[in-house]
This record gives sequence, C-alpha cells and structure tokens, in this order.
Amino acid sequence: MTDPALPNKQRAARAALALLQKDMILGVGTGSTVNAFIELLVSEGAARHLRGAVASSEATSARLRAAGVALLDLNELGDLPLYVDGADEATRARQLIKGGGGALTREKIIAAAARRFVCIVDESKVVERLGRFPLPVEVIPMARSYVARRLAGFGGRPVWRQSTTTDNGNHILDVHGLTITDARWLESEINQIVGVVSVGLFAARPADALLIGRDSGVETV
Ligand code: 5RP
Repeated sequence: MTDPALPNKQRAARAALALLQKDMILGVGTGSTVNAFIELLVSEGAARHLRGAVASSEATSARLRAAGVALLDLNELGDLPLYVDGADEATRARQLIKGGGGALTREKIIAAAARRFVCIVDESKVVERLGRFPLPVEVIPMARSYVARRLAGFGGRPVWRQSTTTDNGNHILDVHGLTITDARWLESEINQIVGVVSVGLFAARPADALLIGRDSGVETV
C-alpha cells in the first residue's frame, strides 16, 4: 500500500540533504521518512561523501550498509555534528513524540550526543499538543506490569506492543489517551519509574530544527 504522506516525507528529507557536509559523521534515525532520506543519500550521491554514520536501529544500519555508508560506534566518537530523524508527533516548539518504530532509546542517545538534531516530518505530524499518538515507553521485560500500573497513574492507558522486542531486547508499552500539558515534567516523571529504559517524549532535548514537508514546499521551524 502506498503511503499518501510519502511525497511530503520526501520533500522534508530532501531539505535535510542540503545540511550535509563533506566528510561528516552523521546520526541517522529510523522510520519511513528516514528511509526516504537514505534513498536520497544514495540517488543524489551524498552517501559516498560521508565519513560514516551512527544508526539508531538495526533496520537503519542494514539500509546504510547497503548504501555503502560506514557504520560507526558512538563510543569511539565525540559529539556528532548532525542527527537527522523523523517523529510521530511534533509541536512548533519542536517537542516530539518518537518511538512508533520502537527505536526510541537509541534515538534518544544519538539526539543527546548530537550538536544539531534536525527532525524531518510531513505536515500530518504537526500538532498543537502532544499525546494523540500513543506515547511509547521502553521497559525492562520483568518490569512491564509494574511500569504499566505506574503509567496508568498519569491518566493514560498503557498497552503492551506484543509484536515488538526492541533492538535492546526490551518491551514497549504504548500509553493511549494521555493529556500532555507539560511534556518536560512528564518526561522527567516517567524516566524516574524503576524499570523504564526510556520514554519517547523528546521535550528536555527537543529538535533544534523541524523541516515540515507540505504540498506547497518545506517549512523550517
Ligand atoms: C522510530 C521513530 C520514527 O521517527 C517515527 O516512528 C516516525 O516514523 P515515520 O517516518 O515512519 O512516520 O521514532 O522509533
């Protein structure tokens, strides 16, 4: 089935391509928008000018490897100059919900280690307030039920994403129906629950720029 948002994802991805520099080490996220970005890296010949990349998932690693991009270990590197990734929801304050693809923890690590985080989205992802998209929380498997009970205390309904084991060997709870009025506060509270590995709120470390693909072009926020 074709994705109706694909043209706008491709527009945003193309705008991010313009930010690359020769010999750069790039952080690369996960998802269909990033896949469009990787396809452009190849078709526009930019892949061969990169020194290498740090990937946020095994799926992205496989695509980059196939594109001939050297995969690098973040432990061997300093901070990254640029991280390009998509999002499930984004506000104009550049706060995000991520993790629909299950890669939230590695995404958070790369975002933390990046001097510049550029988020590429199609216009359907832009919201006034975060929370319509169920909030992903990666948990240590034995803590899943405990964490679910704690998460319910914030007013949401946690659902175990049974189809998914993360690249880190963990489980994901998707929290439906949350009213998120203070994303930084909620991110900090959820991070403190024992057994939580990470939460897909990117509020304390939002994106530095949002590239929004629209039918009319790309808006930079
Ligand atoms: C993966 C993510 C993705 O960025 C998010 O799910 C957006 O995906 P897509 O570009 O396919 O809409 O956070 O964990």
